[in-house]
Amino acid sequence: MENVTLNNGLEMPLVGYGVFRVPDGDDLAEAVKTAIAKGYRSIDTAQVYRNEESVGRGIRAAIDEGLVAREELFITSKVWNDRLSYEETLAAYASSLEKLGLDYLDLYLIHWPGLDTSYIEAYKALEKIYQDGRVRSIGVSNFHVHHLEHLLKETTVIPVINQIEFHPHLTQEEVRNYCKEHRIQVEAWSPLMNGSLLEEALIQQLASKYNKTPAQIVLRYDVQHGVVTIPKTMTPSRMTENLDVFDFALADEEMAQLDAMNDGLRCGPDPEKFNFK
Ligand SMILES: NC(=O)c1ccc[n+]([C@@H]2O[C@H](COP(=O)([O-])OP(=O)(O)OC[C@H]3O[C@@H](n4cnc5c(N)ncnc54)[C@H](OP(=O)(O)O)[C@@H]3O)[C@@H](O)[C@H]2O)c1
Repeated sequence: MENVTLNNGLEMPLVGYGVFRVPDGDDLAEAVKTAIAKGYRSIDTAQVYRNEESVGRGIRAAIDEGLVAREELFITSKVWNDRLSYEETLAAYASSLEKLGLDYLDLYLIHWPGLDTSYIEAYKALEKIYQDGRVRSIGVSNFHVHHLEHLLKETTVIPVINQIEFHPHLTQEEVRNYCKEHRIQVEAWSPLMNGSLLEEALIQQLASKYNKTPAQIVLRYDVQHGVVTIPKTMTPSRMTENLDVFDFALADEEMAQLDAMNDGLRCGPDPEKFNFK
């Protein structure tokens, strides 16, 4: 596994494990433990996924069984900031910690900017948690350039991460360039477009050429762009497959061909329109 260094010096694995749409329950706890046993060190959950308890159970089982130490893990959760006040955001962090059964998170994110500017108040609560040493880093998700510009003007801690929908159909150059300029690491959600990308002819051709799977081509594309990626899978063989992207490299012209698939197609909501309803 390769890491990136965030703007506050913290190291984060380039490939992590996502758990969106997986219900709370024993299957998820077992999947999280299996993912850790297979080498995942970064796990991405959120308040709104309503599965933090099982994610925490899986993490604690892995620690108790000696598979990993807490300090080796990088655990992310997110506040669902539907007009959350400063105090409610502080309470949401405490609640996530309690559900996960952890003393601290490695990264806490504002999940969506929403359609007003209440994310500033929520982010100030994240800054307080960070300054008190109760979280190792803070950041945002689904922020466009104008959201980031406003955030940087009104707050003091530069987010370490902007987690956005990113894949060859949605390359987000403007926001990636802004993030690079401001040392904000980009992280890709739905990197496989929920699996639908894997049918694309170009991706299948590259998979045959490199003797890799379509998913590995897409995840390699992320890594080669320097973008952290967090594919979700409940299938143990795919957990192994999705980590195995560090032994080959796509040629520059192949990266350009993948970039050229960009047509703005989203598999999730548009941050300019998403109002939590
Ligand atoms: N910040 C945000 O607003 C936001 C939004 C969406 C997602 N996220 C995060 O990003 C993570 C990933 O996104 P996602 O879950 O939406 O979708 P994704 O990772 O793009 O795709 C997941 C789907 O792909 C399948 N899959 C995974 N690996 C595969 C492989 N090697 N070969 C074939 N199929 C494979 C999975 O099936 P099986 O499980 O059946 O194997 C699942 O159906 C989420 O879990 C969540 O943590 C964040």
